[in-house]
Amino acid sequence: AETATNYMPETIDLESLRHAAQRCRACDLCHHATQTVFGDGPANARIVLVGEQPGDREDIEGHPFVGPAGQLLNDALSQAGIDRSQIYITNIVKHFKFTEQETTQTDVRGKRRIHQKPNSREIYACRPWLEAELSVIKPDSLVCLGSTPAQALFGRDFRISKDRGTFIATDWCERTMATWHPAAILRMPDEHRQAQMRDQLVADLSSL
Ligand code: URA
Ligand code: SF4
Repeated sequence: AETATNYMPETIDLESLRHAAQRCRACDLCHHATQTVFGDGPANARIVLVGEQPGDREDIEGHPFVGPAGQLLNDALSQAGIDRSQIYITNIVKHFKFTEQETTQTDVRGKRRIHQKPNSREIYACRPWLEAELSVIKPDSLVCLGSTPAQALFGRDFRISKDRGTFIATDWCERTMATWHPAAILRMPDEHRQAQMRDQLVADLSSL
C-alpha cells in the first residue's frame, strides 16, 4: 500500500514538510477532509505532543487542537507551566476522518460530522510525516495523547489506563510517554472520574 514516503520533499525541514503534506494522497482520508492539518510549533521545541487526528474545527482551521479538546489541553498546559507556543503539537494522522449524520436539533441545519478512529492502514500510511517531524525536532520528551498514538508507537498491548505517565524509550525519543487524550476526558460521563483524569493529565504534563 502507498505511504506518505512517496510525498516527502527533498529538503526535510518543517516548512517544506508542511507544504508537501498538503499534497499527500497516500490514503483515502484526503478525499473527504478539507485540508491536511500538519503539526504546529517551533523546530527547536523540546517537547512534542502527538494526538490522534484533526477534528471538525481543526479540519476547518488547518491547525491541531483548536477545538474543544484543544481548549482543555490549553488549560492543562498552562496549569502544568508549559507555554504552548514553545512546544510542537501534531497528530499521528493528518486528515480528519468522519461520518456525516443528519442533525436532530431543530435550530441547526445540515449535517454533523462525527469523528471516527483512523484504522491501521491509515496510521501506517501517515506515519512517515510524524517520523519526519520528529527527525527534524529531535525532542527531549515525546507525549502520546490517547491510545491511538500510544499503540502506534509502543505497540498494540499498550494500555493508557495502566501505563500512562511513565517514560519509556522508543526509536523516536528516549523519554516517550502517553497520557489521557483531552477528548477522552471531555467524553467521560462520571464527573468525579473526569476531574481525576484531568488532574492526571496535568500531573503527567508537569513531569516533562
Ligand atoms: N483531537 C486530536 O487528536 N487532535 C486534534 O488536533 C484535535 C482533536
Ligand atoms: Fe496522507 Fe496522512 Fe492525509 Fe492519508 S491522512 S492522505 S497519509 S496526510
